[in-house]
Amino acid sequence: MIVRLSKSPEDTRDTAAWLIEKIDARGLMALSGPLGAGKTEFARGVAHALGIRKPVTSPTFTLHKTYPYTWEGQRRIFNHLDLYRVQSVKEVRAIGFKELIADPEHLILVEWPEKIRGLLPYFTINIRLSYDKNPKERKIKISSRRSIR
Ligand SMILES: Nc1ncnc2c1ncn2[C@@H]1O[C@H](COP(=O)(O)OP(=O)(O)OP(=O)(O)O)[C@@H](O)[C@H]1O
Ligand SMILES: [Mg+2]
Repeated sequence: MIVRLSKSPEDTRDTAAWLIEKIDARGLMALSGPLGAGKTEFARGVAHALGIRKPVTSPTFTLHKTYPYTWEGQRRIFNHLDLYRVQSVKEVRAIGFKELIADPEHLILVEWPEKIRGLLPYFTINIRLSYDKNPKERKIKISSRRSIR
């Protein structure tokens, strides 16, 4: 488990950028934590690290947003999912979630992953954001069965 203390939104984005390098910009990141903890802020750090210039907004009303990027000369897609409003696993299956995670070149970030625990792949990267002492501080805990070097 990797634990980081973030002291600002920028710190959170920097941690995201650091992780993207470690995981070679592929796989599924499951981001959990209470409302306003910084999940979307983390997603912004991911997008920035990938060279995505389009602003990342919370896809609460869209469920799934895609952002193309190029990594090591390959064209790929960053998939940002926000499952806050999801009522059943069926809704997530309906957007082709299984096909999405079957492609090892995809990068996926899921906010509110507890809605679909049973669908998450074995090598999920779990990221837990929590509030800390100071209003601007967050604890970021990263764990996975996949090795993060
Ligand atoms: N250290 C920090 N890391 C991340 N965000 C921070 C930090 N300190 C303050 N903030 C603020 O907290 C808010 C985090 O909002 P954000 O939308 O990223 O949360 P969220 O976890 O995605 O919430 P939701 O559950 O509503 O989707 C932002 O307004 C951000 O500026
Ligand atoms: Mg959010």
